[in-house]
Amino acid sequence: MVDTPQIVKSNGLSNEAIRANMAGSPASELRIEVEPEIDSTNAALKRRAVSEDIHGLALFAEAQTAGRGRLGRPWVSPPKSNIYMSLGWRTDLEPLELAGLSLAVGCAIAEGLEGDLALDLKLKWPNDLYLGGKKCGGVLIDLVQSANQDWIIVVGVGLNVAMSESGGTDIDQPWTDLGSHTNIPVVRNELAGRLLEALVPLLSSWQVGAFSQWQSCWARRDLMAGHQISVQQGGHAISGRAEGVDVSGALQVATRDGLVVVQSGEASMLRSQEL
Ligand code: BTN
Repeated sequence: MVDTPQIVKSNGLSNEAIRANMAGSPASELRIEVEPEIDSTNAALKRRAVSEDIHGLALFAEAQTAGRGRLGRPWVSPPKSNIYMSLGWRTDLEPLELAGLSLAVGCAIAEGLEGDLALDLKLKWPNDLYLGGKKCGGVLIDLVQSANQDWIIVVGVGLNVAMSESGGTDIDQPWTDLGSHTNIPVVRNELAGRLLEALVPLLSSWQVGAFSQWQSCWARRDLMAGHQISVQQGGHAISGRAEGVDVSGALQVATRDGLVVVQSGEASMLRSQEL
């Protein structure tokens, strides 16, 4: 935590200001829309995908009234203090061929954002962003089929940038924001530009097995590696020591019965009295 967080929150998000921060990069080809308020940027893009081409459309909202997180959880989305963004991307791949994409998105965001802001972002499997041991962001990937049956990936990103205590009261776990961890002013339009610049090269080059290129990035930022964890899978829990992720992004857990590879689920780190 820094003593004097430098947070610039007065400027609203705008298409022009976001664009000004990514001149000349492939991300400048995107269409960008900013809504003052929406239910959920992911839900909105999924609705629109039925009747329009959302490939390359980045939808930002200043506030969400029904923001969604993984596993159907709410994503608390107070106005004008954070980033809520969804990007639509057409793919020729089948859903099963996208294994590891959501982890790679977390890696790309961490690498894309932290340089300018001198942050040390960690990743918690499968796609949470952490600072100082607390969650500051998350990724929600949805898939939708367009009218002509193409698969469209909707990459939803929520980043706490300058969340007030009152804005975060409904969050049910320890949380933080980027502004509390840097002495460099955090300008949301700049952050939005960096975010899109990080995502476009990843999405445009994604192919089967591509997570192998991100495995070492994940390992450097892996919040849980070496810790005792519990993973909820359906009705049962798998407990053991987190051993990083494999080449497809699956979580490896060293249990009493040997190494277990977990494709999906909800992982938590155990405190010593829970061991
Ligand atoms: C998680 O950590 O559970 C994922 C959170 C993803 C939140 C973002 S905010 C923008 C987009 N719209 C949503 O409703 N959810 C994602």
